[in-house]
Amino acid sequence: MNPTTPLTLSINDRLIVALDLPTVAENLALVQGLLPHGLTHVKVGMSLFYEAGPSIIKHLKTLGLAVFVDLKLHDIPNTVARTVEVLIRNGATLLNVHAQGGFEMMQQAQAKSLAMAEELGNPPASIIAVTLLTSFTAEALKTDLQQTQLSPQQYVEHLAKRTQEAGLAGVVCSAQEAGLIEKACGADFLKITPGIRLADDTERQDDQARVLTPVSALRQGATHLVVGRPIYGSASPAEAFERVLAEMKTA
Ligand code: C5P
Repeated sequence: MNPTTPLTLSINDRLIVALDLPTVAENLALVQGLLPHGLTHVKVGMSLFYEAGPSIIKHLKTLGLAVFVDLKLHDIPNTVARTVEVLIRNGATLLNVHAQGGFEMMQQAQAKSLAMAEELGNPPASIIAVTLLTSFTAEALKTDLQQTQLSPQQYVEHLAKRTQEAGLAGVVCSAQEAGLIEKACGADFLKITPGIRLADDTERQDDQARVLTPVSALRQGATHLVVGRPIYGSASPAEAFERVLAEMKTA
């Protein structure tokens, strides 16, 4: 993934399939089923990573896939930087940290990505930040984080700007926030958005607070879509994958 030109990427490279099935074998079967249909990017979240271990990243890479490692790192700067090194050595092309871990932590993560690129002779892995978890309500922002001055949107915008100042490639955000972030941080700043549902299936929310179709998400400024259940939960994942791509092409 090239962090400087996300919008010149092909549509396939802007669709990231979340590998959230219960077992390693089921996730690998899903990948095998989608590869002939043009799968290029997958997301390994906490459950698959902790079940399979870091070797799953290398394995997916040998299949020709770019791997987004979604572990939402949040620790002191030195620990996060060391973890970034381990994940990049294992083949991560995109990974994320919590912006609430602080500016210094984000800067050190980014510096480590650049140092690893030099050492390995690869393009740098893109590091993105989670701003405010989409499960956070305005009330929780006030009571849990004692953030009484800013609304959730203003808080997200603030953290996105800090993320950019720290040199990171972008943020994970809801598609509803993508326009706001594009205005604050520009079109080339990555806006990677989950909560996507196919046009005829938007009543299927699962645990997502708000859902958008692929077309609306891209029109609102999302640079990449993360799609899980609408693909792996479908009777025909390959068909659903192709439908998401086809919808994206009409944006
Ligand atoms: O199944 P679904 O399409 O809702 O999956 C969305 C994926 O994006 C899941 O892997 C989920 O963990 C991830 N995600 C999210 N909301 C965030 C950050 C990540 O749904 N704010």
